[in-house]
Amino acid sequence: MSTRTPAACGWLTATVLARVTLTASCVVAGRVDRTPEWFEAVGRGKIVTMKRGLWAAGAAAAAVAAVAVRDLTQRRHALLRNFPVIGHGRYLIEAIGPELRQYVVAANDEERPFTRDQRRWVYASAKKENNYFGFGTDNDIEFTAGYPIIKHRTFGRAVPRSHPEAGYEASVPCAKVLGAARGRAKAFRPGSVVNISGMSFGSLSGAAVEALNRGAAIAGCLQNTGEGALSPHHRHGGELVFQIGTSYFGCRDEQGRFDLARLKDVVAANPIRALEIKLSQGAKPSLGGLLPGAKVSAEIAATRGIPQGVDCVSPSRHAEFSDTDSLLDWVELLAAETGLPVGIKSAVGDLDFWDELTTLMATTGRGVDFVTIDGGEGGTGAAPMIFSDSVSLPFQVGFARVYRLFAERDLHEKVVFIGAGKLGLPDNAIVAFALGCDMVNVAREAMLAIGCIQAQKCHTDTCPTGVATQNKWLTRGLDPGLKSVRAANYVKTLRRDLLKVAEACGVEHPGLIETSSVEILDGRTTATPLDRVYDYQPGWGLPSKADQEAVIALMLDEPQGGSAPPSP
Ligand SMILES: Cc1cc2nc3c(=O)[nH]c(=O)nc-3n(C[C@H](O)[C@H](O)[C@H](O)COP(=O)(O)O)c2cc1C
Ligand code: SF4
Repeated sequence: MSTRTPAACGWLTATVLARVTLTASCVVAGRVDRTPEWFEAVGRGKIVTMKRGLWAAGAAAAAVAAVAVRDLTQRRHALLRNFPVIGHGRYLIEAIGPELRQYVVAANDEERPFTRDQRRWVYASAKKENNYFGFGTDNDIEFTAGYPIIKHRTFGRAVPRSHPEAGYEASVPCAKVLGAARGRAKAFRPGSVVNISGMSFGSLSGAAVEALNRGAAIAGCLQNTGEGALSPHHRHGGELVFQIGTSYFGCRDEQGRFDLARLKDVVAANPIRALEIKLSQGAKPSLGGLLPGAKVSAEIAATRGIPQGVDCVSPSRHAEFSDTDSLLDWVELLAAETGLPVGIKSAVGDLDFWDELTTLMATTGRGVDFVTIDGGEGGTGAAPMIFSDSVSLPFQVGFARVYRLFAERDLHEKVVFIGAGKLGLPDNAIVAFALGCDMVNVAREAMLAIGCIQAQKCHTDTCPTGVATQNKWLTRGLDPGLKSVRAANYVKTLRRDLLKVAEACGVEHPGLIETSSVEILDGRTTATPLDRVYDYQPGWGLPSKADQEAVIALMLDEPQGGSAPPSP
């Protein structure tokens, strides 16, 4: 019986074949300068290569056999037990499904949270490339119920600028002075109606936070820190709203209790223009923040004062107040101690809280300077599916309910309203302004601007673009200098589009767009005006007369229209 293994037999066959081939080619070529030794040497090289190939094939076969044995003997996955080796293909395809759909399968208006068209608009705007669309809309506007239509005016007070670049550098400040109504010492008029929403250092990489902060400085807008404290990455020139979450990161003592002295130190040392108390977030209302252990790097741990590598779960409620009354006391305390405007951020569910808040504000003289409403369609770094999908109202419905309560108590002109929840897209933002928003916050759209590809792996620390990960290798790919310009370009483009649409509606500023300028299609034949959809009274959704005049005066230094002078 032969003792040769299959590999040895293969090697022998290959050697013989190689020699035959060599001799033949020597004869055919008739090359006298190439000696048999030369061919011998070349042949040896080829044989070495072939031997390596055979070894590699053998090793691969052994690996496949090992996987097959493992699959057949494990009990956790029936699919792999029944279909060893090839069953893994299903898991691979599931893992890269979002990317496959995104690049190969999805149509322009499919995909959530952001369609391909919406992402294309953000990407092109961020790169300052041509963000126009050709041939006409591919949205099914004739048949889509709920589709908002903005009604332009043939002759209005304001005339839209026509050049594509016009309005790009225009400043579009908030129509209200934040904190003025309550006489806060450091009340100010925010310079931009579009600002960067709270996203903590932790959920985002340091490079992403830095890119957004630098971008905010270039675009002249505010960056909200999110609830993960203020890190060195927030200190690149952009002005800040400091968010206070239930863990009091950045303003807590060693026991995790709120520490007013620390808050005042942070405020004194940084360009913080306002404080936002986070009550809840649209994507996970009633739950505290969650930073998976994989993302709790040494730097995050140091910034937040928590152990490295362990899930960081914030409490679902604040310890400093326990009801609406004590919340208002705390708001007044923070405002008095820091001089800053103080607001709350919340998703909208049950209205009892808002009813009580507006009643107490109307009767006790205490109050918040701003209210940020986050829609249930809003984003998160990580949340349970049921909370993201089904808890809290979508932005328009929730915002309108809250605004109505403020308006019924005549408080709507004394509070700055900020909206969030896919409002970084011009059409959504215009509806928000018409409903009474004074500013919009953008989170995921800003992430798209700095490179996010909507891979939806933010909760795993494997974000391929370095935006939402603490993995050093992955964040290395994100250049904060380059991406800061993209973030700023995106914010400026959105502002410009909002301004142009406002002018198309005949007004000088997005905050002056009336509810009567928007209708919601009911299908093919009818549409309902926005004020009727949300049961608004005449005049609701607008700033006070004095604020309107002030902001019109600020906008009028911008050129209007672009027409030649009338003929003589
Ligand atoms: C990665 C990520 C992290 C977030 N972190 C916070 C946070 O720390 N605090 C907060 O109030 N909201 C947080 N949010 C919610 C956003 O601030 C925003 O309210 C929400 O995503 C809606 O805006 P968008 O639709 O423009 O993304 C986060 C969102 C994302 C995507
Ligand atoms: S690219 Fe990164 S930031 Fe964007 S969705 Fe994917 S994981 Fe999240």
